[in-house]
Amino acid sequence: MSKFPKNFLWGGATAANQLEGAYDRDGKGLSVADLMPGGKDRFEILTSENFNWELDDTRIYPNHRGIEHYDRFKEDIALFGEMGFKCYRFSIAWSRIFPQGDELEPNEAGLKFYDQLIDECLKHGIEPVVTISHYEMPLNLVKKYGGWKNRQLINFYERYAEVVLSRYHTKVKYWMTFNEINSASHVPALSQGLVKSNGAKDYKNVAQAWHNQFVASAKAVQFAHALNPELQVGCMIIYGTTYSMDSNPVNEMATIIENQEFNYYCADVQVRGKYPAYTERFLSSKGVNFSDLEIAEGDLALLETNTVDYIGFSYYMSAVIDVTQDTPETVGGNLMGGVRNPFLKQSDWGWQIDPEGLRIAMNNLYNRYNVPLFIVENGLGAHDKVDENGYVADDYRISYLRDHIEAIGRALEDGVDVMGYTPWGCIDLVSASTGEMSKRYGFIYVDLDDEGNGTLNRSKKKSFDWYKQVIATNGEDL
Ligand code: BG6
Repeated sequence: MSKFPKNFLWGGATAANQLEGAYDRDGKGLSVADLMPGGKDRFEILTSENFNWELDDTRIYPNHRGIEHYDRFKEDIALFGEMGFKCYRFSIAWSRIFPQGDELEPNEAGLKFYDQLIDECLKHGIEPVVTISHYEMPLNLVKKYGGWKNRQLINFYERYAEVVLSRYHTKVKYWMTFNEINSASHVPALSQGLVKSNGAKDYKNVAQAWHNQFVASAKAVQFAHALNPELQVGCMIIYGTTYSMDSNPVNEMATIIENQEFNYYCADVQVRGKYPAYTERFLSSKGVNFSDLEIAEGDLALLETNTVDYIGFSYYMSAVIDVTQDTPETVGGNLMGGVRNPFLKQSDWGWQIDPEGLRIAMNNLYNRYNVPLFIVENGLGAHDKVDENGYVADDYRISYLRDHIEAIGRALEDGVDVMGYTPWGCIDLVSASTGEMSKRYGFIYVDLDDEGNGTLNRSKKKSFDWYKQVIATNGEDL
């Protein structure tokens, strides 16, 4: 008998800006993702002093083309269907629906695309899971309004969320309001539109942007539940299980603080409905007075009464805290790098691979919040070697995913309530942190390189048939 519940949502996850392409078609406006250049120095550029949201004609912008999913979505969804996906997590590109973000009426052509995408999923028996905003706010909202630090964005997001919720609520049950909302503590450009030239240097702007997003998210929850009480609306956080390097109490306390400030701050507000006790200490350590934030009358009550139904989270790696050494050995990571863990191996990009860390994450989250969890991202970014038939023998990916699925099984035995598992980049797509195509996560290979060369043909990797079997046996045959 499988440990996994009968209705467990096996599937895969993507984001509009990383695969659709067609960045200027059918009325779509530019989004912040369209201004992010390809290359390992992508974050260096975004966090440089003079980055000011202008295109640089000496650079490649891989999100403009993505993997041309906009034109090939039927083929892609059919492949997901062939793997037996129960669900598919994708995001709606805000800038397709409201190209400038501040219009009063939506762009019908943009909505038509998602009508078709959703219908295609349903045709293959796949439950759509929608992220309302995944690292792609309309660029105009950054240029004209300064990004999420501006409270006016609440109204623009509210209008957008209401349009898509109203249009799709009979077909889409599962929603998430903001992808990896807590990632702004490391790179606020992606989710808040904040770079140094428009306010990222002042943490007050990041904290204010979060507050505005919390309110916007609560309004979406309120609207969704009033529209259709069946709808399940989740928050979405990036979770990095964090260990103290040793039993030194100083490291242990630093680990508690890191967990609060990175892993829990946003979820505490969105799941528990109020700012946590450590808020003032956290913000003052960044030079911000909580009382200086613009919090309108009614905001706190709104947050309290419109908490999310579940926690969606991404998990790729764990981190280690050591504040007792001046120059500890460090590693790379998903937004947050950190100290090297001597017990763990690393991915090709230096992310520390830690399946048991997923079980720990699930225990921590479930026992802290007591709401269902949805693992909406997990996976291994790796260099794949493709043969002349488009086949990739990606045993390393199978082994990463197998180990993590086994860890989910142990968490289920721990009593954790998990709704589903959607590995990231189920089809190869553009990397968020580097814009590379060569950082591949998929079960499906896409013939496209970092310079934009390739046929874009899709082919099945070894992991394709493996995952199909995992789903068919509800996680028994790994
Ligand atoms: C998550 C994001 O942080 O990690 C995705 O939600 C992203 O958008 C994924 O693609 C993997 O990161 P990367 O940088 O390897 O693409």
